Amino acid sequence: MKPIDEYQTYRNLPPLAGLCSMKRAIDSDWSLDESVARLKRIHYVFRRVHESLISRIPGEPIYELKTLYSHHAYLCAEQIDLIRKRVSEMREPPLGLDKVPDLNLELALDELSRCPDTVHFLAGLYRTILPECVIACERLQTDAHPLADAPTVRISKLMAFEIRDVYSTGQACLDCLLSDEDHSSVLEWQSHLQAYISSAGSIDGTSDPTPAPLSRRYETEDVIYQREPERDERFRDPYNAGVNPEAFLYNEQYAAKDKTLMIYYKRLREIDVPEVMATILIDLRHEEPWDFHMEMSRQMWDEARHAMMGEVGFASQDIDWTEIPINFTWSRNLNTQLSPRERHGVLFFIEQGLMPKTGKRYEWEIASESGDTLAKLFQDFDWADEVLHAQIGRRWYVPRYNSLGEAMAYGDKCWTRVLSKWQEYQDQGLTEHRNWWPELYTKVCSQRGTIPDPETLAFSQTYQEQRADLETLE
Ligand SMILES: [Fe+2]
Ligand SMILES: [Fe+2]
Repeated sequence: MKPIDEYQTYRNLPPLAGLCSMKRAIDSDWSLDESVARLKRIHYVFRRVHESLISRIPGEPIYELKTLYSHHAYLCAEQIDLIRKRVSEMREPPLGLDKVPDLNLELALDELSRCPDTVHFLAGLYRTILPECVIACERLQTDAHPLADAPTVRISKLMAFEIRDVYSTGQACLDCLLSDEDHSSVLEWQSHLQAYISSAGSIDGTSDPTPAPLSRRYETEDVIYQREPERDERFRDPYNAGVNPEAFLYNEQYAAKDKTLMIYYKRLREIDVPEVMATILIDLRHEEPWDFHMEMSRQMWDEARHAMMGEVGFASQDIDWTEIPINFTWSRNLNTQLSPRERHGVLFFIEQGLMPKTGKRYEWEIASESGDTLAKLFQDFDWADEVLHAQIGRRWYVPRYNSLGEAMAYGDKCWTRVLSKWQEYQDQGLTEHRNWWPELYTKVCSQRGTIPDPETLAFSQTYQEQRADLETLE
């Protein structure tokens, strides 16, 4: 028999469609069972990380972490989706993807999800759990049969590629927040989690298991999830509902150029949507199938992107957004007054209402007319995203009702039931509902070198009697 290294292809072309050498392809030390088992373990870790990230979005005050968690939760969802599709190609249902594959792995992720401190959470996730996940994906990429199991090799490569980026950004965040005095407790915490992973024989179960840590740090009742949103100190006066940007936007008398400021405000304020969506996802985690979570995670990330587009818009005009009261009472009121199904109803009602001529198309037209090319670009993509969100709503919310009309009416009714607490927040001394518009407008005019238009300057409509779709409140 000729040595396998001497195997010849036509004119020495790369063999086997470039997958591997003939020698590697003959090596049969791989099985479908092993492939499924490893994928399921990695899948479990991504599921738990996805959930942990989402559950922290409302209660995490730091804006940059809210958007980071929204992004990373979405990326975890994409990996989960890849694995689920691949496992379903190799197995008949039931796929058993909801089973816990290893009790020590479960303990590691329980500990991570219950960790109350942000810095420790970041360290546990981005320095320990996700790097271990990448190692498991890389090992799968090398060990899986390159020809027979090529689809698994492909997704392992993609997962390792994306998650490496995820943890390096997470580690960069940790470096900014980690203080010298936390240093040793963080290292101890990382080795505590590492010990659980080792006791599971690594994430993929390929190593020899070591003894598990003797005791857990957190108990079952230690839950860090809270519905009430928190904001960091840059959000000054977040109860302020003294300016109604929709009333400005839809008033013909104002100039498009000035309206883009309100558009940027509305975009940035959208950080409240991930805060609401996170609670819908967490509260319905056992009631809805994976595809619901997948699509809603994408939408949640889009809303975080929209908020950042607002942030970029203000930065592009040299406006310090922290001087503007970014209101958070919409997410606060919804999350504390409504059930998850009711919150979903309100979300759908609002998003569906953005579709007609007066919604996203109008914002895009204003942005186009304003001469602000960045606003036009952002509104173009914002509109495209909202079309997708309306479709997601039609797939996951509308079928629960007899018709689209009924589904809309339910959302409208739920929104009407939400108490705006306009007066109450003022009486409690939480805000004076100061009209911040003249200040912002004057500043922008001075930067532009123009004289403020007296009527534009005099805009003073609030949310006291109107909600964001300009319906009158009773
Ligand atoms: Fe949005
Ligand atoms: Fe949306």
